[in-house]
Amino acid sequence: MTARILDGTKIRDQIFAELRDEVRLLSSAGVRPGLAAVLVGENSASQLYVKSKIAACEELGLASALIKPPANVSTLDLLAVVEDLNRDNDVDGILVQLPLPPQVDTKRILEAVDPSKDVDGFHPVNLGRLVSGRPGLVACTPAGCMEILRRNDVKIEGANAVVLGRSDIVGKPMALLLMHANATVTICHSKTRDLPNVLRRADIIVAAIGKAGYVEADWIKPGAAVIDVGTNRVTDPEEAARLFRNFPDRLEKFHAKRSALVGDVHPAAINTAGALTPVPGGVGPMTISMLMSNTVKAARLRRASPKFSATQSTATAR
Ligand code: GUN
Repeated sequence: MTARILDGTKIRDQIFAELRDEVRLLSSAGVRPGLAAVLVGENSASQLYVKSKIAACEELGLASALIKPPANVSTLDLLAVVEDLNRDNDVDGILVQLPLPPQVDTKRILEAVDPSKDVDGFHPVNLGRLVSGRPGLVACTPAGCMEILRRNDVKIEGANAVVLGRSDIVGKPMALLLMHANATVTICHSKTRDLPNVLRRADIIVAAIGKAGYVEADWIKPGAAVIDVGTNRVTDPEEAARLFRNFPDRLEKFHAKRSALVGDVHPAAINTAGALTPVPGGVGPMTISMLMSNTVKAARLRRASPKFSATQSTATAR
């Protein structure tokens, strides 16, 4: 049996439709939510990501600003940029695109962002709120993964969920969100012993380790829901042959373009999983949706209370 495809693009469209209504409502109250993106240097992947984030703002009628400090910017100069945005009342969301160049103290920059404008959910205050189930802004990729599970009626309560990867941006917040939704959560990483057998017990797998096709099809319990966060560009023909052995169309496409985007889960998982996010078109569109959702939410909450108080808990907040 082939897995049900968990289509992130379709959910993105639903969420954008919901956000349009909310933006219209805010607009009638004289509020236009605004996002400021800070893009340091010329990293081509970062440029592409930021471009799609700005395009999404335009699509939804949000205000956006792109600030581009030079690649050799100092920590202090970048702190000054962030402070300016903190003070600017037209800015509801601040996004500092990562990675920052090595001379910049990334943690110091992320801690300087006003938590009420922290639409990436990376500030320790928002991470702490997530840990203790208080209202706050939640990191976009894990929030998007939860939305995919919820909107496809995947049962989370009581499920064995395995998160593969322990990054601050995805793995850790993902595990917390699943735990708040009453899953039994295991976090795996590079030192985990006998990973295949840990994964084989999972009803839900979230793979976020950044290795193309790492999770083999037979590590997945038949029928499990698999969320593939990886977006890895494969250029090696031998690797492509391993990944696309039984997918002649995809192999042919790889040879024509000399590269392909592959998730952290082997494409053959489509024959064991019960439900699976595609790459591309799964988690990717959800990350941007959640950024837009967080920006609208920040605009709403900043107007409701200068000190930022939400009425929902982070476990369920939208
Ligand atoms: N770099 C990779 N993913 C992200 C993200 O979600 N937010 C930011 N700011 N930078 C990133």
